[in-house]
Amino acid sequence: MKVLLTGAAGQLGHALRQQVPPGVELIASSRTGTDGTGDDSHADVAEGWMALDLSDAAACRAAVHRHRPDWVLNSGAYTAVDKAESEPELAQAVNWGAPRAFAEALAETGGRLLQVSTDFVFNGAQGHPYRPDQAREPLGVYGATKAAGEEAVEQVLGGEGRGLILRTSWVMGPVGKNFALTMLRLHRDRASSGTPLAVVADQVGCPTSTHTLAAACWRAIERGTTNPGQLAPILHWSDAGAASWYDVAVAVGQLGLERGLLEQAAVVTPITTAEYPTPAQRPSYSLLDCSQTRQVLELPSVHWRQALQQWLEAVA
Ligand SMILES: NC(=O)c1ccc[n+]([C@@H]2O[C@H](COP(=O)([O-])OP(=O)(O)OC[C@H]3O[C@@H](n4cnc5c(N)ncnc54)[C@H](OP(=O)(O)O)[C@@H]3O)[C@@H](O)[C@H]2O)c1
Repeated sequence: MKVLLTGAAGQLGHALRQQVPPGVELIASSRTGTDGTGDDSHADVAEGWMALDLSDAAACRAAVHRHRPDWVLNSGAYTAVDKAESEPELAQAVNWGAPRAFAEALAETGGRLLQVSTDFVFNGAQGHPYRPDQAREPLGVYGATKAAGEEAVEQVLGGEGRGLILRTSWVMGPVGKNFALTMLRLHRDRASSGTPLAVVADQVGCPTSTHTLAAACWRAIERGTTNPGQLAPILHWSDAGAASWYDVAVAVGQLGLERGLLEQAAVVTPITTAEYPTPAQRPSYSLLDCSQTRQVLELPSVHWRQALQQWLEAVA
């Protein structure tokens, strides 16, 4: 089975590459055609890496026609939530234009699409977990462009059951940029200067490790191949439990100390969203109801703190 992976140099892309199932021929793509480390001797880079600009719809279509993959796993995205507010055209080109182009080309070649999406398609106002079939109501440009990408996949491939959307939340892993790695760095800096770390405590969601998320993506592809009728068109996947950003910052300090990643943790103080204004508005409660997906994918549910503990072991 041939799988064209986008965003292969991103944090989820990294975990997906580590877990490629037997029998999958992976074509890894990134903006530059490398894994982004600058190390061109990297084993993955020698073959199969392809330069693909996701803001170039024609290039996305051409990649599908050239390689004729059984699946496109679209993990690449414009993920800079705040910057998207001032770059809406680029965010839209990447987050809507690329999945639409992949879907259109796959409709012609007969392949399937797994579109990775986000809890930010919801506004967070309902106060209990979102089911996959609930209406999208994004708050900012990032969420709106990801919601538009989902709609494009549904419109082009949904009717034929060949477009799967897998929403996730608060993605974190040992490689790349994410909240937990930023907190680890800030704990180090603030502990040495004695300055408390103020973190938003009134936004609730669920952290998801790239490791468990990658397993869910590969399992969805496997089930979508062998038994496509079994899967709902929209899947929800996060680790188990719930947390505020404050909770995650505290946990990073505690686990960082236990793992020997920190000599000292900073004092973390809870603040409100209003005290930490950002260009993009974020959902205040964006838990995803993953019960249906867990059942159908038959994967264990790992509490976010345990998953965080596991992946922190891989941090250099
Ligand atoms: N991070 C989260 O908290 C979160 C939460 C929910 C859902 N998601 C979704 O999960 C998926 C994976 O996200 P992630 O956390 O792995 O993000 P990431 O680390 O930012 O990876 C995204 C990748 O997409 C690439 N990309 C962006 N624009 C591109 C372009 N024009 N052409 C080619 N590549 C481009 C980025 O490359 P550059 O580095 O070169 O820009 C990056 O390697 C995304 O679909 C995202 O929307 C993420």
